[in-house]
Parts: sequence; C-alpha cells; structure tokens
Amino acid sequence: MLIPLILSGGSGSRLWPVSRKNLPKQFLPLVGNGTLFQQTIARTRQLPDVGAPIVVASEDHRFLAADQLLEAGVENASIVLEPVARNTAPAIALGALQALQHDADAILLVLPADHLIGDTASFVAAVQEAMPLAARDWLVTFGIRPDRPETGFGYIRRAQAIDDNGYQVGQFVEKPDLATAESYLADGGYDWNSGMFLFKASRYVEELAEHAPAMLAAVRAAHAKASVDLDFVRIDRDAFAAVPDDSIDYAVMEKTRRAAVIPVSCAWSDIGSWSALWLTGDKDADGNLREGDTMTVDTRNSLLRSHDRHLIATVGVDDLIVVTTPDATLVAHRDAAQDVKKIVEQLKAAG
Ligand code: GDD
Ligand code: MG
Repeated sequence: MLIPLILSGGSGSRLWPVSRKNLPKQFLPLVGNGTLFQQTIARTRQLPDVGAPIVVASEDHRFLAADQLLEAGVENASIVLEPVARNTAPAIALGALQALQHDADAILLVLPADHLIGDTASFVAAVQEAMPLAARDWLVTFGIRPDRPETGFGYIRRAQAIDDNGYQVGQFVEKPDLATAESYLADGGYDWNSGMFLFKASRYVEELAEHAPAMLAAVRAAHAKASVDLDFVRIDRDAFAAVPDDSIDYAVMEKTRRAAVIPVSCAWSDIGSWSALWLTGDKDADGNLREGDTMTVDTRNSLLRSHDRHLIATVGVDDLIVVTTPDATLVAHRDAAQDVKKIVEQLKAAG
C-alpha cells in the first residue's frame, strides 16, 4: 500500500517573524488555499490507491497537526510525535517503523509539509511513474530542473536510464557550495533534489542498517518505547534524545547505490525563505509582492507583508523584505533572506 509520510517537524525560522516556534510556517496560510500542511495532505488525496497518511511532527505541534488534519477532512492519519528534533533521517525512520507495523510491503511517499506544488496532476503522474521503481527496491527521488545555482538544495546527477522509467542517480550531493552549484548548473546534467522520496519502508530500514546502524538502533529503541493513545503515537523522550541528528540526504542518499530519479515539472517550490515566497508569488507591475496595507513609491522587486491594517509605506527602495507582525518588524535585503534565521538564533540565545 502507498502511504504518504508527511514531514512536519521543521521550525521555519527563515520566515520569522510570521513563522514562530509555536506556529511554524507549515501550519500557516502563507500562499494558496489553507496552510502548506493542509495543501500537502490534500495533494496526497489525489493519488490512486493511497492509504492513511502518517504525519511525523514535533510534540509541541500535536494539536495544530490534529486540528488541521480534521479541518482537511482526514480522520485516519497516524500522528507520530517527536519529543525533540533529530532531523529527517530519524523522522523518516519513525514513519517507516510505524508503517511496517501494519504492512510489511508499505511504500512510503515522503513529503515535506512546507512545499508548494502548482501542478498536482504532474505530481500524481510522477508518483505513479515512480511506483514500479520503488517496488523494485529503488529509492526514488524527484528531480527538478535547476534555474539558478541554489546552495540550499541537494543536486542529483542523472546516470543511465532504468528501462523506460527514470534514471539511476550517478551522484547525490547535498547542499554544495556556490562554485560547485554553478558548475552543476553549467554542466546541465544535474537536477535539484525536490526533497520528496518514494521507497519501500523496508528498503529504507535496510539502507539505515547499512549506512547508519547506530541511528537505526536508537530509533528502533525509541519507537519500541512509544506510548500510543487515541490520537497520537508518542515517542519516548530519553530514548529519542539519544538518536544521532542527521538528514536523509547525508545519512542515506549520498551513500546508497540504489537511488533513482524521476524528472518532474510540477511547478514546485520549497517555501524556505521570504525570497522564495517572493519568487513564487503574484507580483505587481513593479515586481512587488504585497499583502495587507501597503503603499509604494519608486519601489521595486520587494516583498511587503503587513499585519492587521498596519500600513507599510516604502519610498525609493529596491529588493527589500518588510514584514510586520503585532510584536516584530523585519527589514531585510532580499539577497540576505537566508540569514533571517540568525535573528531567531539571537533571540533564542537572549532567552
Ligand atoms: N518530523 C520532522 N522532524 N520533520 C523535519 C525535521 C525533524 O526533525 N527536520 C526537518 N523536517 C521537515 C521539514 O519541516 C521539511 O518539511 C522537511 O522535513 C525537509 O527539511 P528541511 O530542513 O526543509 O530540508 P532542506 O530544505 O534544508 O533540504 C531538503 O529539501 C530540499 C528541497 O526542498 C533536502 O532534501 C535537499 O536535498 C532538498 O533539495
Ligand atoms: Mg526545506
């Protein structure tokens, strides 16, 4: 059975001050209908023969996840709660162990809860194309044609075709430096890793056994000690705290010999930062993405997002991000949008 595994544990700190620890971006209505989490869930319901989703989220967000699932009309999801964040490799391992309890042949469709996909039909078609590969023990990635030397993504080199169905991955490089990313863009043979994956739950566990055995053992121990109540699968705090922190990209995808890639063009974007949101949004004739009360004179290519009738007025500025909330205002250069997380780090350090 095809099981969507929704990764919902990120903190979204680059979208501060709108995204907060208690209400991170995936649970916010940032673009489109509903929250990014709900749009992700809705997308999976377009897939044929799909089972109940598994959501892996932070314990702190259990009610947000549960409420938003109900609001989206999903009553049969398993919600697995992490007491601490240990990044995506352990989160997916929890999902895989959870799925294997019910179905030894489960195929997991791993989906980040914070992505925007403009063309659901292409997404569904790509998943269907990927299914036979996953059934034959490939770890399938979905490749996006790069249009800029983005350093926040993984890069995948396409190697030989697998039958008529996707390609073997020649090389998987997570978050290269700028010079490397530029050379991959010029080369033309590399796709971005979209961060969505399709594989057998059992295959993923075998890959961890080979490439990250200590992590697998620790996740197994934590999952075995989970307490299950009506709504949630609560993972044991001390046991999960002992799990090493790593992403699937570093822990598995860079190392496995069984990675495949299916190219997709589904108007995909990772709403990782304010500049990413600006890129995807509907802009005015001057290239400004505006929300709420805003007024501009001689202002171009900026993102202005005002809260609750607070007027943002800009004069003679380009490439600016201005975001207001009741208790904070962000002003940043669009090129420095990645560094907004440093403010969040400073705030944390200041307590
Ligand atoms: N449950 C859970 N627990 N979810 C997590 C955790 C965790 O500890 N950490 C991250 N996530 C979720 C995030 O909320 C997000 O939906 C997804 O997992 C991916 O994590 P990110 O932290 O956003 O990863 P990234 O964007 O830096 O990189 C990944 O995605 C890129 C595409 O957007 C990688 O897979 C890259 O290779 C890829 O290009
Ligand atoms: Mg991301």
